[in-house]
Amino acid sequence: MIRTYKEAPSNIAIVKYWGKKGIQEPMNPSLSFTLSESISRVDIKYRHTEEKLKVEFLFENRKKEHFLPKIMNFLERNAKFIPNLTHGSIEINSANTFPHSSGIASSASSMAALAKALYSINKTITGSDHNDADIVSEMARLGSGSAGRSTQNGWVLWGETDMLENSSNRFGTPINSQVHNIFHSIQDSILVIRKGAKSVSSTVGHELMNNHPYKDGRLNQANKNIKTLLEALKQGDFETFTSVCEEEAMSLHALMMSSSPSYTLLEPESIHAIKRIKKFRDQHHLPLCFTLDAGPNIHLLYPKEQSKTIVPFINEHLAPLCEEQMVIFDEISMPKPE
Ligand code: PMV
Repeated sequence: MIRTYKEAPSNIAIVKYWGKKGIQEPMNPSLSFTLSESISRVDIKYRHTEEKLKVEFLFENRKKEHFLPKIMNFLERNAKFIPNLTHGSIEINSANTFPHSSGIASSASSMAALAKALYSINKTITGSDHNDADIVSEMARLGSGSAGRSTQNGWVLWGETDMLENSSNRFGTPINSQVHNIFHSIQDSILVIRKGAKSVSSTVGHELMNNHPYKDGRLNQANKNIKTLLEALKQGDFETFTSVCEEEAMSLHALMMSSSPSYTLLEPESIHAIKRIKKFRDQHHLPLCFTLDAGPNIHLLYPKEQSKTIVPFINEHLAPLCEEQMVIFDEISMPKPE
């Protein structure tokens, strides 16, 4: 039997991936950073037999049959990268460090952890010690698009752009060496406006873009924002970072609101919090901005050295807007120095 444990972080996108083509390839490039506290872990046991592959999936030690189709799809799409895993039995036990009800999507972290673990088991079988980071990212992407940005730590760009030579629609590329120090310790405080928040399933969400009346405008905007964001990250320019970040967050929701059918995922407290954040920023001239995922919760981003001023503001003025005052204080996970 071969047993392996792997983990991978969740990530938050600044320039959003919204709309896909082919098999999980993005319509536009996206850029995100991985988190420290919001992590998925998998423990996989593989037994080789001559029989057709049998898969069992457990979430926190309990069998979850309804996840199986997603896992089978993942294995099928990735068969060429893990050719030695076509027979025998695989038991996957998965768990997250963040609460199920926190509104943090677990698909990116769990698919990234799964890709790392299965790639590693296949390597153990072949006796190879070569690690191909692009392939692991590609495997994760085939499970869930944004997961391709979660197999490596820190700032990761995914999708073809003229701005980065080896960028690809197939896998994410870390760009940490091109990012200024102030963004190496960026904080992400997640305001949980609604626990277990309803979000548009990403399959439905991406499909909305196929015939969206603003599709061309969106693609131009995302390509322009990638360019501006890369420069702002390089220069340590938090002001430009803020304007791209908030434009992307609001555009994601505007696209959902203007699609057919339309979706309104922001809650009254989300709007209230956004106005409060802007007012606080204008009053104190602080580097602080927000982003949103496909749901009502708010990610507040700021450099670590601002925590002394910003954390008390969050606790006093923003936590009361959250369900059961829930705020998750997370931050970027950077790669460990070699
Ligand atoms: O990876 P998916 O298919 O769950 O899509 C993720 C979409 C967003 O979270 C809204 C944006 C992003 O780039 O992460």
